Amino acid sequence: MFSENKNIYILGIETSCDETSAAVLKNNELQSLVIASQKVHEKYGGVVPELASRAHQQNIIPVVDVAIRDAGIDKSKLNAIALTLGPGLPGSLMVGVSFAKTLAWALGIPIIPVDHLLAHIMANFIVQKGESKKLPSFPFLALIVSGGHTMFVRAEDELTLVTLGKTIDDAAGEAFDKTAKMLDLPYPGGPVIDKLASQGNPLAFAFAKPNIKGLNFSFSGLKTSVLYFLRDQLKKDPEFIQKNLHDLAASIQYSIIEILIEKIDLALKETQLKTLVLAGGVSANSYFRKRLQEYATTQNIELYIPPPILTTDNGAMIAMSGYFKYLHQQYAPLDIQPYTTGSLAF
Ligand code: KG4
Ligand code: ZN
Repeated sequence: MFSENKNIYILGIETSCDETSAAVLKNNELQSLVIASQKVHEKYGGVVPELASRAHQQNIIPVVDVAIRDAGIDKSKLNAIALTLGPGLPGSLMVGVSFAKTLAWALGIPIIPVDHLLAHIMANFIVQKGESKKLPSFPFLALIVSGGHTMFVRAEDELTLVTLGKTIDDAAGEAFDKTAKMLDLPYPGGPVIDKLASQGNPLAFAFAKPNIKGLNFSFSGLKTSVLYFLRDQLKKDPEFIQKNLHDLAASIQYSIIEILIEKIDLALKETQLKTLVLAGGVSANSYFRKRLQEYATTQNIELYIPPPILTTDNGAMIAMSGYFKYLHQQYAPLDIQPYTTGSLAF
């Protein structure tokens, strides 16, 4: 799976949403990672596309510059530049894609188009400097749980995914973010709920559970159930949220994670796969990680979750996916254009 006798240096650039990030990998070993998170969206309760692309324009040069410097190499050492081609916000994608094309042209090296979803999964193959750890072996079941996606895929190899099920409405991360907004918490709500929940009772309040067959998901019923519950309680006590914030966060988090765990159990049983790989921002959730470890131990499942920094959007996962494509010489011409929906990998 890895290059045997030559070190390959890949620069990965990620600008699909609200994180400007760049990283350098030597084969699958992380040399540097820079992530500039855009604080500007916090007060809007969600990502504002216009502001995102403007912030990417401001950040991209220093972010890439520091990533190369931190890696301790000269840019002439890079073998290729991997970039997120999609899916994502068009204005945001365009900044990273244009920058990568220009730098690759100047250095005379190829660009490698990477699918953001595939890259989230491939984050599980990254090792830290000097670290040797067991890596997932194909085929495996992967759950992508992010702000934009919640889906099961069967990963056949480093380049090929088959969709097994996905959300029919909101993504799990969206469920965190939208319910957090109802609690007057800043965007993105997932990490804030995670923190508050650690001091709350997960069984304090019960919310609606979806009744979706097979390996698909639904989170909109839960969201509406939280909305109506809060509306009713606030009529009785306008300070209900402040008084019960920890219990509300813990109960919402518990409801979302239990939906995910139930489906994971079903997916592993249906596919008979024994390896589960997590990907995407929601897999940073501390309760989810703990719950999955317990589940994997009791069910004898091999579980892989990237370290929290590599679960949310980052350039390292783009470089990792780019490395695998580099070994198959899957380069792209310099006139390639980003895509906002769909996927390269399915
Ligand atoms: O993968 P990601 O960075 O971006 C997308 O591709 O969407 O995921 C972002 C999502 C957001 O919805 C955010 O609230 C959620 O991941 N998230 C979390 C946590 N950290 C990030 N959700 C729950 N608990 C967390 N600790
Ligand atoms: Zn993502």
